Amino acid sequence: MEIKNAEFVSSHADVSKCPPPDKPEFAFIGRSNVGKSSLINMLTSRRNLAKTSGKPGKTQTINHFIINSNWYLVDLPGYGYASVSRDKRQGFGKMIEQYILKRENLYCLFILIDVRLEPQKIDLEFIQWCGSKEIPLCLVFTKADKLTRNQLNKNISVYSATLKRTWSELPSLLVTSATEKTGKDDLLLFIENALAD
Ligand code: GTP
Ligand code: MG
Repeated sequence: MEIKNAEFVSSHADVSKCPPPDKPEFAFIGRSNVGKSSLINMLTSRRNLAKTSGKPGKTQTINHFIINSNWYLVDLPGYGYASVSRDKRQGFGKMIEQYILKRENLYCLFILIDVRLEPQKIDLEFIQWCGSKEIPLCLVFTKADKLTRNQLNKNISVYSATLKRTWSELPSLLVTSATEKTGKDDLLLFIENALAD
C-alpha cells in the first residue's frame, strides 16, 4: 500500500472529543521517547507531520492524522515518563487507558519497544494489560539502526522468549528504524491486511 496523502486532523486530551469513530484507526503507543512520532513521520514520508523531540514527553495529547482520506493514524503520549509530576503522569495514563478501551474503531494498537533494551517491566505489564482487554495489537521494535544484526537478532529472541512465558500465541513482531527508514513496507503491509480483513 502507498500513502498518497497524510493530514493532521486534531489533537485532544479527551477521547470523547476525538473525530467520529467512523473510519479504521491504527495507533502508536509505547514508552516516552521510544520513537512513536518519528515512526508516523517515516510511514507517511513527512518530516514533521508528528512533532518529535530528543526529550521524552513531547506528545501530550491524542493526535489524529487522516491517511488517503479513509483511515486514521494516531500518535499517543508515551507512558513511563518519570520526569513529569505524578499528577500529570496519572493524567496521561488515564487518557491512554480511556483511548484504548473506548475507541471502537481501533483496528490495531502498535506497541513500540526500544530494541536496544532488555524487556522492561513497564512494557511487559502494558502488553499484558492490553492482552487481558483483548486489544488487537502488534509489537514494533524501534531504533534497529543502533544495533548490529547479531545484537538485533539476540534481543528479539530474548523478547520473544520472555513473551512466550505468558502468551500461548505471540503477537506479530515488526522491526523498524525511523532513521534508516527500514520496516516501512512491513508495517504498511500489516495495515493493508488489517484493513482488508
Ligand atoms: P514522546 O512523544 O515524548 O512520548 O516520544 P516519541 O515516542 O514520540 O519519540 P520521538 O519520535 O519524539 O523520538 C524520540 C527520539 O528518538 C528523537 O530524538 C528521535 O530522533 C529518536 N528516534 C526515533 N526513532 C529513531 C530510530 O529509529 N533510530 C534512532 N537512532 N533514533 C530514533
Ligand atoms: Mg511523540
